[in-house]
This record gives sequence, structure tokens and C-alpha cells, in this order.
Amino acid sequence: MHNDPQKPTVAVIGAGSIGAGWAIVFAQTGHDVRLFDAAPQRLADARDEIAARLRDLQEFGIMDDAGDVAMSRILFCGEFDEVVDGADHVQECIPEDLMTKKQIFADLDMITATDTVLASSSSFIPASAFAADLPGRNRILVVHPANPPFLLRVAEVVPAPSTDESVVARTEQLLKGANMAGVRLGGEIEGFAYNRLQGALLREAYCLVRDGFLSVADIDRLVRDGLGFRWSVIGPFETSDLNTRGGIEAHAARMGPYYARMGRERGQDDPWTEDLVARIADARRKLLPPARWQHRCAERDRALMALMRARRNDPALSICRDEE
Ligand SMILES: NC(=O)c1ccc[n+]([C@@H]2O[C@H](COP(=O)([O-])OP(=O)(O)OC[C@H]3O[C@@H](n4cnc5c(N)ncnc54)[C@H](O)[C@@H]3O)[C@@H](O)[C@H]2O)c1
Repeated sequence: MHNDPQKPTVAVIGAGSIGAGWAIVFAQTGHDVRLFDAAPQRLADARDEIAARLRDLQEFGIMDDAGDVAMSRILFCGEFDEVVDGADHVQECIPEDLMTKKQIFADLDMITATDTVLASSSSFIPASAFAADLPGRNRILVVHPANPPFLLRVAEVVPAPSTDESVVARTEQLLKGANMAGVRLGGEIEGFAYNRLQGALLREAYCLVRDGFLSVADIDRLVRDGLGFRWSVIGPFETSDLNTRGGIEAHAARMGPYYARMGRERGQDDPWTEDLVARIADARRKLLPPARWQHRCAERDRALMALMRARRNDPALSICRDEE
């Protein structure tokens, strides 16, 4: 088997939220896709959902091809053997359960060509946990997206110690060709980065609701209209850098003790040490020289204004407006 090296054929196993989402990502960017689900009804439903999402992407003008052209690239497979036949890359998207992942990777390792890359969409479980004993462990890794992958176009790439560097490189190339940024982690850690970051916020949100400080709706509102709205144009380090004159160091000096105390109150003792702050400040200074600080604040504001205009004017964004 060898397909167009520029557009590898992708097999997606599991047609739930993430499997259907990956099928859209790859079909939308010119890849042949095969999609399989153990539940035939789920596969049939996924066909309708994918067609509808592709039509939406076309309507919003954020896809090069017509929706039905992208749809025609997806083969809906009734059999497991059929889905992996001729695949260059397999993206597993079945439920987050260690034994289930172990079984599917053992099967995939047995029936796929030895140069097929086998990737898991796993949210928490690193590849070593289900692949360490397999003969093909050198071609197995985690590629973890956010939901929905066709709109949040950055995925974590998490190789196991046994994964070949060439497999990581091929995976990064595949993602690039699918208009998806790949962020590579420096090692395996449970929950990777997406869910560790999300988890930090969720843990606190649960505590605030438990202790009667805020309602569920108001937490969602603070994040949607406040923190998350700003995070859609700059990340948390850039936020700290721009929020305080003097940047990261000034922010850490002034706010660090409060954050450290709040962490200890929740049983986490990881203060921002001088060395760590210096490293982060150094990375930020390379990204944003102090002379551009004011200009960057104005860019942030203009980016937020563009989003605010869209929120006011686009009916699809009524989801972000509360009924008064
Ligand atoms: N939902 C998210 O936000 C999200 C985000 C990133 C990653 N993930 C991860 O992606 C994976 C899939 O999650 P999801 O939310 O799409 O789950 P889901 O429950 O929506 O879909 C899983 C699908 O897998 C099918 N399935 C089960 N066993 C199978 C098998 N042996 N062979 C083929 N199909 C099988 C099920 O019928 C189901 O349709 C999980 O590992 C999850 O942690 C989820």
C-alpha cells in the first residue's frame, strides 16, 4: 500500500464525538478517511452528523472544498479489517478505558502494516500504559485533540519512550498537512497538558460551587465572558505579562504570594520560585521585547473588540448572550 505521501490515508476507529471530529479534520484537508464504529447505529448517526458539520463549515466559509466533496472522501466501514486496510495512520477514538485501549492496540498492532502509525486520542492514559508490551510499540503514540477537533486546531503529541522519532516526525507532518498544530510534550504525564490545565480550573470551580461562593451558571459566565474570552486571543502567561507593568517578574512578585497561599489552601504547595519565574520571564521577553509591551496591549484590545463585534452581530453567537 502506498498512498499519496502528501495526503496519507487515515483510519479512524470509533465514531463518537472525537472520531467524527477527526474524520472531518482529515476529510476537510484532502485526506481519504475510513471510519469505523463497533456500534452500527452510531456509525449511521455519525454519517448524518458529519455531513451536517461539513455543510456548516462550508456555510461559514472556513473550508476550501464544498461540504459534499469532503464528505465523499470518507468511507464508512462496517468491518474492523476494512477500516485499517491501506491506512497510513490510524487514529483510535474509543472510550477512555485502559483494558479497552490495550485490546484495540494489540489488535491494531497485529493486523496493520508495520509502517502504519498507530495513534490514540486518549485524554489521560499515556501510550506506555497500553503499548509497552506490544511488538509495534515503536509506532504507537498519543495524539490528543480538544473537542471539537475541527474547530480547536491544536493537538498534543505525546510519544512514549518507545516511540520512534521518525514516527513522531510523520505524525507532526500529518497534522501540519491537516491544518492542525501539533504541540509536543517533553514526556508522558497522566492527563497530558490540556487536561492538567483544564483540571486546575475545574478543581477550583468545583470547590467554589461546593462552598457556596458561586452558582454553576455564574462560574461558566466568568470563564466564558471573562477569562476564556481573553484566552481566545492570548494565553495565561501572556495575560500575566500584559496585566502588570513590568511583565511576568512584576506580576509574580506582586501576585505570586497570593497564588501560593491559595494553592496551599487547596493542598498544593508549588510556589513560583525565583528560578522558575526567571525562566518564564526570559521566554516571554524573547516573544515580546519590553519596547513592544504597550503596542501588544493595544493589539490584544483590538482582537477582543473584533470578537466582541462578532458576538454582537452574528446570530450564531447568541449562545454567548444571556437572556436578561
Ligand atoms: N469528548 C472529548 O471532549 C474528548 C476530547 C479529546 C479526547 N477524547 C478521547 O477520545 C476518545 C473517544 O472519546 P469520545 O468522547 O469520542 O467518546 P464517545 O463515547 O463519544 O465515542 C466512542 C465510540 O467508540 C465506539 N467503540 C467502543 N468500542 C469500540 C471498539 N472496540 N471498536 C470501535 N468502536 C468502538 C463506541 O460505540 C462509541 O461510538 C477517548 O479516549 C476520550 O478520552 C475525548
